[in-house]
Amino acid sequence: MDKREALTTALGLMADFYRKNGRSLPWRRDREPYHVFLSEIMLQQTRVEAVIPYYERFLTLFPTVEALAAASDDLLFKAWEGLGYYSRARNLKRAAERIVSVYGGRFPDTPEALLTLPGVGKYTAGAISSICFGLPKSAVDGNALRIYSRLFADGTCITDEAFKSRLASELDAVYPRGNDAADTTQGFMEVGQRFCLPNGAPKCVDCPLSSLCAVGRGDADYTLYPHKEKKKPRRILPRTVLLLTDGEGFYLRQRPKTGLLAGLWEFPSADGHLSKDEAVRAASELGFSVAGALEAAVGKHIFTHLEWHMKSYLISCKKADVSSFVLASPREMEETYAIPSAFRAFLNYINEQK
Ligand code: ADE
Repeated sequence: MDKREALTTALGLMADFYRKNGRSLPWRRDREPYHVFLSEIMLQQTRVEAVIPYYERFLTLFPTVEALAAASDDLLFKAWEGLGYYSRARNLKRAAERIVSVYGGRFPDTPEALLTLPGVGKYTAGAISSICFGLPKSAVDGNALRIYSRLFADGTCITDEAFKSRLASELDAVYPRGNDAADTTQGFMEVGQRFCLPNGAPKCVDCPLSSLCAVGRGDADYTLYPHKEKKKPRRILPRTVLLLTDGEGFYLRQRPKTGLLAGLWEFPSADGHLSKDEAVRAASELGFSVAGALEAAVGKHIFTHLEWHMKSYLISCKKADVSSFVLASPREMEETYAIPSAFRAFLNYINEQK
């Protein structure tokens, strides 16, 4: 059997398994796009059992896409409280607003149009296209990547974007249409969550794919598939933050228009962990005349590729000619200037001193 044939057979077996043995879950009661959309967004970083009560409550509060578009942020975030990743809730509402304003409340029915909705990526567009509209579009998530890697003992790193694209195009080339498309996408979820488990040994004995699958047949070791390259350790950057104060306000400057935290406001800082004398010198070099300095809060912020390990000094000073700085009150720092959360520890420290 060649690969394309094996893949076609695997999709058929998963769809069949879903039709006969799929779990009855609330978002499988119908194929209403709003319902499927909501469930797919909720299920992105949260387990099925945890999502169920949230899904039911959310639909009671916001039964239609129009109701969601009109939701107050307070009620929306209350309904989401505990699910985490609040940007998902914000994007859901923005997507609902777009569906109402651009599509007159009718859910868009092509992958291209779905991809224009906030928070909808290739996975979600594929899931809605296949489940709700019967289009031959795969939904490549962790389940699909894991099942495929084990089926063919494919050792490509699963976080590799090129692998995800290759998998999507191999699947789309053989994906069925109509009800079979919906059942295939749901079948991937069943097999991925019940047999081809992400942590610990897969349950190959019960898996409908076992006789087709390299791991299921015993030809490959499940611990090697899926393969995930170890992340490079993040670079650690020690920094010293200068909390320059005239006794009331604090001097802030704007970060460069490009790069990390572009255009946001910040306390000035210097590379390395400076001694008090060095920090005073750094403040003078920025154009401030310093009256005194005290060691203040420490903070750590983790970016994707690096970590800032920060110490700070509270430095009493007078402004000389430093046009690139603004003097902001503690209240303005909370309400007016967008200061990244990397500096939260210092804002908290300042608020505690008040
Ligand atoms: N996870 C993501 N989508 C799912 C679905 N439709 N059913 C079960 N688990 C899922």
